[in-house]
Amino acid sequence: MAVSGNCWSAILLGIFFATANGIDIFLEWNVALDSTIKPAGFDQPVITINGMFPGPLINATTNDFVHVNVFNNLDEPLLFTWNGIQQRLNSWQDGVSGTNCPILPGTNWTYVFQTKDQIGSFFYFPSINYQKAAGGFGPIRVNNRDVIAVPFPKPEAEFDLLIGDWFYSDYKVTY
Ligand SMILES: *[C@@H]1O[C@H](CO)[C@@H](O)[C@H](O)[C@H]1NC(C)=O
Ligand SMILES: *[C@@H]1O[C@H](CO)[C@@H](O)[C@H](O)[C@H]1NC(C)=O
Repeated sequence: MAVSGNCWSAILLGIFFATANGIDIFLEWNVALDSTIKPAGFDQPVITINGMFPGPLINATTNDFVHVNVFNNLDEPLLFTWNGIQQRLNSWQDGVSGTNCPILPGTNWTYVFQTKDQIGSFFYFPSINYQKAAGGFGPIRVNNRDVIAVPFPKPEAEFDLLIGDWFYSDYKVTY
C-alpha cells in the first residue's frame, strides 16, 4: 500500500503531539458505604469506590489530565484529596477543607487535575470527617513519559501498598 510523504508526516506529527501533551483520563466513581466487608472482623461501614476497597488505581503518566466524576452516595459531605499531586495553578482541586467545597450527599462533582512533571507513587483519600479511617482511599501512579529517562530499568511488575490503622467501631464515633 502506498502512503504519500505528506501523510506520513501527518502521522508522525500526530504521534509527537500524543506523547508530548498527555492524554485525558476520564473516571467515574460511585462512593458508597458497605458493611459486608468487615476488614477487622466487625460490622462497620466501609467507604467503597465502585464497590471496591481499597479504591481503584489511578494510573496516569506525567502531563496527563485526570477527570474524576465523583458521585457521593454517602449520607454526609465528601471531599477527596490527591495527596502529593502538586495542583499547579489549580489549588482548588486539592480537595482539603478551605480549597474546595465538599460534594453534598446525592450529588456529583468532577475533579480535573494534571499530573505534571511528577513521577512516582501517590494516594488519594477522603479528607474530612475522619472518613479516611473507613476507607475511600486508593493508589495513584504517575508513570514517566517515554521521552523522560528514569535511572532504573522498567520494573517487572508493580503493586501498590497502602498501610493504615483500622478501628473496630463505626468511623462516625470518632467525631
Ligand atoms: C499504567 O500505564 C502505563 C503507561 O501507560 C502502562 O504501561 C501500564 O501497563 C498501566 N498499568 C496498569 C495497571 O494499568
Ligand atoms: C455529574 O455527572 C453528569 C453525568 O455523568 C455529568 O454530565 C456532569 O457534568 C457531572 N456534574 C459535575 C458538576 O461534575
